[in-house]
Amino acid sequence: MSSDAPSTAAAHTAHCGIVLHPAGHTRSPAMHRAAYAALGLDADYTVYDVPPERLAATLDDLRTRGIVQLAVSIPHKRAMLELVDEVEPVAREIGAINTVTRVGDRLVGANTDWLGALRALERETRLEGRRAVVLGAGGTARAVVYGLVRRGAETHVLNRTPERAERLAQDLGARSAAGLEALAGLRPEILVQTTSVGLEEDRSPVPAEALPEGLVVLDAVYAPERTRLIADAEARGATTIGGKWMLVHQAVEQLRIWTRRLDPPPDEDAFEAVETVMARAFDEAGRDVAHRRHAAHRPREGADR
Ligand SMILES: NC(=O)c1ccc[n+]([C@@H]2O[C@H](COP(=O)([O-])OP(=O)(O)OC[C@H]3O[C@@H](n4cnc5c(N)ncnc54)[C@H](OP(=O)(O)O)[C@@H]3O)[C@@H](O)[C@H]2O)c1
Repeated sequence: MSSDAPSTAAAHTAHCGIVLHPAGHTRSPAMHRAAYAALGLDADYTVYDVPPERLAATLDDLRTRGIVQLAVSIPHKRAMLELVDEVEPVAREIGAINTVTRVGDRLVGANTDWLGALRALERETRLEGRRAVVLGAGGTARAVVYGLVRRGAETHVLNRTPERAERLAQDLGARSAAGLEALAGLRPEILVQTTSVGLEEDRSPVPAEALPEGLVVLDAVYAPERTRLIADAEARGATTIGGKWMLVHQAVEQLRIWTRRLDPPPDEDAFEAVETVMARAFDEAGRDVAHRRHAAHRPREGADR
């Protein structure tokens, strides 16, 4: 703990974590711990692998144990809406919570995925008035569409199940909705991929020929870092943004929600560095996963020696 750490955190180790199922190889602990170190915060980060039927009991338990902040991942983002004491209006509108923060005695649910996607996109392009297509109609799509519509982009939603896209478009004010095959006809300037296609597989939800030139593409899938869609888009000269950047920016926003309540809060300039620190931790955690996978497949020569 460094001497210039915020006094609130100095009193005791702040207990943070992530709830998801299955846990798999989540990189969030590495990212958040690296950020705590960079900001001089005395905090720990625990992974809670919790099936849906145990979510409510786990949250009760964590509440009793004084959890300060909990990231919420698949498949709990919707269910959490019913379990917290208060839901921030944006998270209510999106219909998903990815962050629970203790405020006094209350657990407050928020959503930072939409900001993560916007920050990642806005590093590369202007959004207002641009034609954007979002692939997918799940929780992540809802967050992304909310952000794009709020920034004034002309937003279209395409999904394998078009009825879900239609419902999403109606709820959040997108311009149109259809099946994935409508992409070629729309000729978007911005494309955000939020389906689970491409996760740990060499597959894209749309054919390469449907990608127009001059596109800016964000793929929310971050493992592998270079998805099939990103590779296809690059081959057509697109500007591409990996899901890592959405993950990093949404994580930075999570940290802001908690630490702005500290006395004193961390300096805003420090958050610039936190972005870099989290991105580096993401890369290192990825190398670690690859190393462990490689080791798991190697013949166990000498293991009994
Ligand atoms: N980078 C980040 O920070 C970040 C943040 C959040 C999520 N993500 C990633 O975003 C992805 C989606 O997460 P989510 O929470 O939105 O999931 P979700 O709510 O379960 O939605 C899944 C979406 O994928 C579509 N889909 C699934 N299998 C498909 C297939 N074979 N062909 C075409 N479409 C298919 C579904 O279409 P149907 O409606 O037709 O079933 C649905 O639109 C995950 O890979 C997750 O890791 C990344």
